Amino acid sequence: MSAPEEAVTGETVVPLAHRSIDEIMMGRTACREFCDDPVPRRTVEQILSAARFAPSGANIQPWHVYVLTGAVKDRVSAALLEAHQTSRDEHVSEYKYYASDLPEPYLRRRQQFGQLFYGALGIAQADSVARARQTAKNYTFFGAPVGLIVTIDRRLEVGSWLDLGMFVQNVMLVAAGRGLQSCPQETFSKYHRILRPLLSIPAEQMVVCGVSIGRARVVGAERLMPRADVDEFATFAGFEA
Ligand SMILES: Cc1cc2nc3c(=O)[nH]c(=O)nc-3n(C[C@H](O)[C@H](O)[C@H](O)COP(=O)(O)O)c2cc1C
Repeated sequence: MSAPEEAVTGETVVPLAHRSIDEIMMGRTACREFCDDPVPRRTVEQILSAARFAPSGANIQPWHVYVLTGAVKDRVSAALLEAHQTSRDEHVSEYKYYASDLPEPYLRRRQQFGQLFYGALGIAQADSVARARQTAKNYTFFGAPVGLIVTIDRRLEVGSWLDLGMFVQNVMLVAAGRGLQSCPQETFSKYHRILRPLLSIPAEQMVVCGVSIGRARVVGAERLMPRADVDEFATFAGFEA
């Protein structure tokens, strides 16, 4: 008798999630404290194998990931920590993540993020030393056993960045379906000059972000970041008829 809990996705046989997609999506949060339980290469391969079914315009699949663990990840972390401590102002991302002047309601939301995030860590908003210490944890992938560095071909246009975002979200959701937590991290993009030689990233690839993957140190942590209600961002039309 075939096992009802298994489904074939591409070339991979994976156990069907017992939790619904909604539950997995709403339960995913940015994890910033991992334990060092290893995540085997096979698991990462399964995650990527499922995530690659993300949609992309004209199916061009504009993603590339460097999957790091062990000594290679440690070497990357050491190099980035050193740069963060000694020369952080000399490094700039090749793309701009945030608008210089955030309009409302985004400015208010970013301020709320700062209050919640640093408040939960007991870091005062003005304490730049403690904030830099927290930022530094990004470069150790928050202690996660696996770190991804995600790149995109710089010759592609903004539409392909949409595709890339869908792929990265897929990675995080597939990981969550396997009981693994993750954190997407744009902080890696500013250190592309260090990452490029370390990982042999070709010149045409732009470093977009990192993703830490592993098991959370604290299981079942409460969601910290709220979301705007649906009526704040959705405009419905035609349903009344
Ligand atoms: C593309 C992207 C880049 C991010 N970069 C960072 C980062 O560099 N460091 C970090 O700690 N969190 C980073 N985050 C996590 C966000 O702060 C987090 O997703 C947001 O506050 C909402 O919280 P939640 O994911 O727990 O719901 C990033 C999220 C995204 C989507």
